[in-house]
Amino acid sequence: MNHQVTLDVDHERCARDGLCVRECPLGLIELDEDDFPRLRKAAERLCIGCGHCVAICPKAALCLNGRDPETLTLVDRSWKPDPDKLRGFLAARRSIRSYKPEPLERGEIKRLLDAARFAPTAVNAQPVHWAVTLDPARTRELAGLTVDWMKSVPDMPYKGWLAAWDRGEDKILHGAPHLVLAHSPETARWPQVDCATAVAWVEIMAWAMGLGTCWAGIFTRAAQQWEPLQKALALPAGHVTQAAVMLGRPAVRYARIPERLPLRVQWL
Ligand SMILES: Cc1cc2nc3c(=O)[nH]c(=O)nc-3n(C[C@H](O)[C@H](O)[C@H](O)COP(=O)(O)O)c2cc1C
Ligand code: SF4
Repeated sequence: MNHQVTLDVDHERCARDGLCVRECPLGLIELDEDDFPRLRKAAERLCIGCGHCVAICPKAALCLNGRDPETLTLVDRSWKPDPDKLRGFLAARRSIRSYKPEPLERGEIKRLLDAARFAPTAVNAQPVHWAVTLDPARTRELAGLTVDWMKSVPDMPYKGWLAAWDRGEDKILHGAPHLVLAHSPETARWPQVDCATAVAWVEIMAWAMGLGTCWAGIFTRAAQQWEPLQKALALPAGHVTQAAVMLGRPAVRYARIPERLPLRVQWL
């Protein structure tokens, strides 16, 4: 992959400490004869634009692809959560299947998704795109199309869900006002993992915002296979649904953390 990449070094600011040289994951920075950093030729092919070179520099001496380092957000050490509290917070997250019907503000959903931009992605490809239903009626329509797909599949194991749908109960998207879908070009390097990771971050951020989520696995399967649903989603050409979650305000509050299997580790 050949592309233009530039790394401008402010010689007034640079401490010539070699931090960027050590931190570049691909070894694309070297020191010149005066110990100032410069890009190796291979950067044109190999740089993944991760920005670690800029992010590590305490002097704001590096400008990657023309972006002024002073415009990048400074890391605030006080953001670090208490590990015990974070552990409890993560363990107390539950998949929510009872939602208040009221939709969320678009700004709240944007705030939620924005956090997932910083999730890791293979070779920093950042292939994750989102599609979100704003109107609960649209969410229900997508649940209905999923039901149509389920009815078309011989030996569908979740027959009870279909009977429930006919009774007016939604076991597909559980009456959530929103569906949040992660999609990506099918040609991306590791899109399933990247989208799943981003969705995991969305779930954690949602929990921190007092919102509820639940993976929509059966919907995801339908979106990957059922043309009428794909038509309704109208994703960009070449994009594939990789993961999806329901989203809304929880109508329930869990009192305890349920048991899970014990930690299984093989120390190598
Ligand atoms: C599925 C996946 C595979 C990855 N594999 C590697 C790897 O083999 N070696 C490595 O140094 N980084 C690997 N990474 C880390 C990415 O390169 C990194 O997330 C990306 O450059 C963005 O940097 P950040 O995580 O600091 O934001 C991987 C990330 C993901 C999500
Ligand atoms: S952006 Fe990442 S890969 Fe590119 S030179 Fe900087 S540290 Fe290396």
